[in-house]
Amino acid sequence: MEFSSKELMDIMNNDDPRANIYMGAFDIYKKLIIYYQSAIDEVETKLRIIDRELTNSNIVGRNNTIHQIQSRVKKIGSIATKLDRKGYSFSREIVEEKLADVAGIRVICSYTDDIYMILDSLSHQTDVTILEIKDYIKEPKPSGYRSLHVILEIPVFFFQETKKVKVEIQFRTIAMDYWASLEHGLRYKDSHIDSKLSERLEVSAKVIAQMEEEMLAIRNEIEALEE
Ligand code: GTP
Ligand code: MG
Repeated sequence: MEFSSKELMDIMNNDDPRANIYMGAFDIYKKLIIYYQSAIDEVETKLRIIDRELTNSNIVGRNNTIHQIQSRVKKIGSIATKLDRKGYSFSREIVEEKLADVAGIRVICSYTDDIYMILDSLSHQTDVTILEIKDYIKEPKPSGYRSLHVILEIPVFFFQETKKVKVEIQFRTIAMDYWASLEHGLRYKDSHIDSKLSERLEVSAKVIAQMEEEMLAIRNEIEALEE
């Protein structure tokens, strides 16, 4: 990456008053990354432990309970955009108090019942506090979007302090993720999606949900035969 030295010189020599804002904000963000990335690491480890045990259980269809885990710390620009939308200024305390999705984990499972099983297991862990559950599987969004959104809080033990950090987990099946990823791409940057196209996207989500139910029914039958 290359920068204009002239611009950088002007900004950093404080000719531009925004320099202090940028640098102050980045100092805060650097600290936030340490907190939130560490919380993501903790929760990902919990998920991997659950998955390892299930994978070794020899139960049919459980060999790929968690298909994939994705995670990210929200970018500083997205944090600022969200705070601005809600009418808040930017500080470490405000981010910690007002935003619950700075640390985001997406857990992609094979079947819908895997999702509730993992959530149940997590919620029984003594260091995990579930703060909020939005079940867009039981009640899909008008767009057709299905996922289970969970906000939890866990303590993270740092060098000198213990901090409770919020993490948002989006649980989806492979099928839900397939729809959400494609739909997100299609809606990208206010592309022209009229009500007819929206309806077709919603119908597609329903077809996918039906197909998923059938796959689960098939797995359940095979499971019953093995018993
Ligand atoms: P935020 O302030 O953005 O958190 O809004 P919210 O809390 O009302 O919504 P929620 O947390 O339930 O969902 C936000 C996230 O869910 C988004 O960032 C997307 O990742 C995902 N999401 C929600 N609705 C849709 C949808 O219709 N399509 C897709 N592809 N993703 C969605
Ligand atoms: Mg949200």
